[in-house]
Amino acid sequence: MSAEYLNELFGLDGQTAVVTGGAGVLCGALCKGLIRAGANVIVADVNEDGCKAMVEELEQLGGKAGYCTVDVTSRESLENLLATALEQTGRADILINGAGVNYGSLLFEYPEEQWDRILTINLKAVFQACQIFARHMVDSGGGSIINIGSVTSHLPLSRVYAYSASKAGVLNLTRNIAHEFGTQGVRINAICPGFFPAEQNRKLLDQDRIDRIMDGTPMRRFGEGEELIGAMLLLLSPVAGSFITGTHINVDGGFTAAWF
Ligand SMILES: NC(=O)c1ccc[n+]([C@@H]2O[C@H](COP(=O)([O-])OP(=O)(O)OC[C@H]3O[C@@H](n4cnc5c(N)ncnc54)[C@H](O)[C@@H]3O)[C@@H](O)[C@H]2O)c1
Repeated sequence: MSAEYLNELFGLDGQTAVVTGGAGVLCGALCKGLIRAGANVIVADVNEDGCKAMVEELEQLGGKAGYCTVDVTSRESLENLLATALEQTGRADILINGAGVNYGSLLFEYPEEQWDRILTINLKAVFQACQIFARHMVDSGGGSIINIGSVTSHLPLSRVYAYSASKAGVLNLTRNIAHEFGTQGVRINAICPGFFPAEQNRKLLDQDRIDRIMDGTPMRRFGEGEELIGAMLLLLSPVAGSFITGTHINVDGGFTAAWF
């Protein structure tokens, strides 16, 4: 296949992609994929040092990147994020909602503050960001949104009660929003990753849990952030993904297909 044809199918030249959670492990990998596909990237994260470090890495790849420190729990902060993307690049064609947090404990010990924090960051913030960015996309002729779900969008995972509920909500929200904008040039989909090495996982995964995850994963390994890039480019591309909305791609080594 020629590079030219691949670029025609999957290239994002000149588009601006805003990535929340962009200083993190998985969305950092997505930022790199976006840059290599030709997009301008705005790294959006509450971790300012992480944003700066990511922008440096993206510039080393030869791309155009900027950042905006954002707290996704604040509508004002999300509105400022859209304004910053427009100020820095004149566009906001792509939104990736990737900021996310997790916490695990037995039900009786599960703190209400963690429930509220996780539902706010992982679900309510996705709703608000979709409202703000989809409005801009409709007004400017179109765009594409990817929300980051999880295997817990489909299956309960023991102890991570709020996380599972939030990610199930993210997938439902994604499908629901797709209905409203199907004829207005805005496509919205989700990527549901399986298990990837990341700081928030390290705290939650003891050896017993890792063994159980590996048992349930046909490919018997964790994923790597770069393995999400292909799914992302398919869903984002206005050419390859032109008729894809309201759905998701599981990138999970087969976890959701597991049988016992
Ligand atoms: N690592 C996995 O195995 C895995 C699996 C499935 C889904 N996910 C999802 O992928 C996404 C990325 O996770 P990750 O594994 O890369 O974790 P990560 O901790 O490396 O990244 C999450 C990022 O979100 C940012 N963030 C947290 N709260 C924020 C807030 N209020 N405002 C703005 N930014 C905030 C953090 O600073 C961090 O950079 C999350 O939505 C996560 O739930 C991860």
